[in-house]
Amino acid sequence: MTEATAYDRAYGAWQQDPLAWWEAAAEGIDWTKRWDTVFDPSLGAYGQWFAGGELNTCFNCVDRHVNAGRGDQAALIWDSPMTGQLVTHTYKDLQTRTAKMAGALAALGVGRGDRVILYMPMVPEAAIGMLACARLGAIHSVVFGGFAAAELATRIADAKPKVIVSASCGLEPGRVVKYKPLLDAAIAMSPHKPDACLILQRPQEQAAMTPGRDHDLLEAEAAAAPHDCVPVKATDPLYILYTSGTTGRPKGVVRDNGGHAVALWNSMKMLYGVEAGDTYWAASDVGWVVGHSYIVYAPLLRGCTSIMYEGKPVGTPDAGAFWRVCAQHKVKILFTAPTAMRAIKQQDPDAKLLGQYDLSNLQALYLAGERCDPPTAVWAQEILDKPVVDHWWQTETGWAITSGFRDFGLFPFLPGSGGRPCPGYDLHALDDDGHVLPRGTSGNLSVRLPLPPGCGPTLWENDDGYRTAYLSDFPGWYRTGDAGMVDENGDVWVMGRTDDIINVAGHRLSTGSMEEVLASHRDVAECAVFGAKDELKGQTPIGLVVLKSSVNRPEAEVSAELVALIRERIGPVASFRDARVVPRLPKTRSGKILRAVIRRIADGETVPVPPTIEDPATLEEVRVVLQR
Ligand code: COA
Ligand code: AMP
Repeated sequence: MTEATAYDRAYGAWQQDPLAWWEAAAEGIDWTKRWDTVFDPSLGAYGQWFAGGELNTCFNCVDRHVNAGRGDQAALIWDSPMTGQLVTHTYKDLQTRTAKMAGALAALGVGRGDRVILYMPMVPEAAIGMLACARLGAIHSVVFGGFAAAELATRIADAKPKVIVSASCGLEPGRVVKYKPLLDAAIAMSPHKPDACLILQRPQEQAAMTPGRDHDLLEAEAAAAPHDCVPVKATDPLYILYTSGTTGRPKGVVRDNGGHAVALWNSMKMLYGVEAGDTYWAASDVGWVVGHSYIVYAPLLRGCTSIMYEGKPVGTPDAGAFWRVCAQHKVKILFTAPTAMRAIKQQDPDAKLLGQYDLSNLQALYLAGERCDPPTAVWAQEILDKPVVDHWWQTETGWAITSGFRDFGLFPFLPGSGGRPCPGYDLHALDDDGHVLPRGTSGNLSVRLPLPPGCGPTLWENDDGYRTAYLSDFPGWYRTGDAGMVDENGDVWVMGRTDDIINVAGHRLSTGSMEEVLASHRDVAECAVFGAKDELKGQTPIGLVVLKSSVNRPEAEVSAELVALIRERIGPVASFRDARVVPRLPKTRSGKILRAVIRRIADGETVPVPPTIEDPATLEEVRVVLQR
């Protein structure tokens, strides 16, 4: 028998007494009132953590570090090659600005439980705004800047924010993205209107303000009285983060205060091996869960220095940008999406630019957001000569389901695997009837309830929607929506989604919502959108449309309109650039479009004719169009 590893011992300790395990982790957080019950199974969709406890997340991220003498340590370094600026906020600075921003929000009527939407580029005010909401016990909802006005409007309608915090613009290479007109359009579209907007005027673009509703964010912050931290229940929502679901309507994943603080604080050491004072960089965007958890909350909960980067892996100015940031700020752990590595690899395959920088502080590269293809993982490991850890998680979980663990000693490098289950997750592959499959067999990756602290306990004002989406297929389990297996050694291999979600450049999108948009075009009779393999972005969406018989226009004209329509309704982040007309779509005899088959044809696979197909000739028709 092989000797138990540190990981085996930790996982075993959690299995033996999960409540005691999490109770010990909860000691890392400052509570204003300790919990009554570590886990109360009677609350919410499947139970809630630390019921009866009270705390303030902003206090735990900011004030307590100042109180402990870390006030002069860098808390947030904003490195913006887009503007050429570098701004450091110490913990003391963050406390001052967060308290004032909270005061500004409070002056606009925001209090505990109220919602605030943030539609922001990667600027410090985004993090400060999030923390200011947490300080007040208000619930923030950050909307990624690459979404269009219509997507923002659906989030405004669902979250019903009292105030929206935004900026005059975001900066993308070669273009200034004017946020304010998008915000105005979204508010016009939404049945719910905010009472007020706080707008950060950036020097690159002056936004026109709506008198009575819009206020200059920096002026409001300067004029405000600092606001103290408001204790909230551990089970109160900290934020709502909308993510793509299987229908056009986005899902508002809720995160609580107590479980979130415990899980994220714990993850910094257990997964990444960092402590207070270390510099940690998640090269993501605050609009995504990775940005919420690992640009803002987790590093600050642990007292680390977090980097916020307004730039790209390539082109700002070159493919050495990530190495420059790591060297300049002595980054210990870099966390990014495989797409970023592929972009760097494409432009600098021999990593010549890496040689210009001293990466002696960097200890490991962590990847997530999409499955990392083995060649990219191997390349990154070779050029960096540091451990590369692929770890698997979702917006819903808020932190990794599977990972490698620097605190326990990393597992041997296994490109393509997402590591092993984190203590807290009892993960198995289930067959379609919900039976646990033997190790080594692929199925529906599912977690036995309860989910650990930090995972979304419900959807915003929609417990039933949560149950239907995640819990009802396999009673007693949370269905992740990913397919894969746990092998004989316990390593987990995540192979892809079992639903219509695709990951484009690490950005989660629903092909169903793109189909809804295409179907709304006057010339389209029916359509199918699927994610085809892409060298850089992992997947990109392709739309196949059947036109109404009355349509007699050039294909190029209709395609251009469809591409523009997705950009207008969903946003540039959809990366939808390819709409093609087909005479018919392959379908089953019962009328279901064979999307998986179409995707495999697009990926160049030889696909056997499915026995359920209505007309095999449609496969050839689609193949001809896709090979054009
Ligand atoms: N605001 C407005 N527009 C945005 C945006 C934002 N915050 N983020 C992206 N966009 C736009 C881009 O400008 C681009 O617009 P375009 O069609 O006019 O060129 C479009 O959305 C698609 O963006 P993206 O898919 O990111 O492609 P890209 O070609 O601009 O960049 C990479 C490619 C690989 C450099 C980029 O995707 C990247 O850095 N990926 C890292 C992934 C990541 O951080 N994932 C987060 C989850 S961990
Ligand atoms: P998001 O909610 O945007 O974080 O996207 C979550 C989805 O991205 C997961 O359900 C997976 O399909 C995919 N994903 C994220 N990280 C990984 C990973 N390390 N390996 C495989 N798939 C991943």
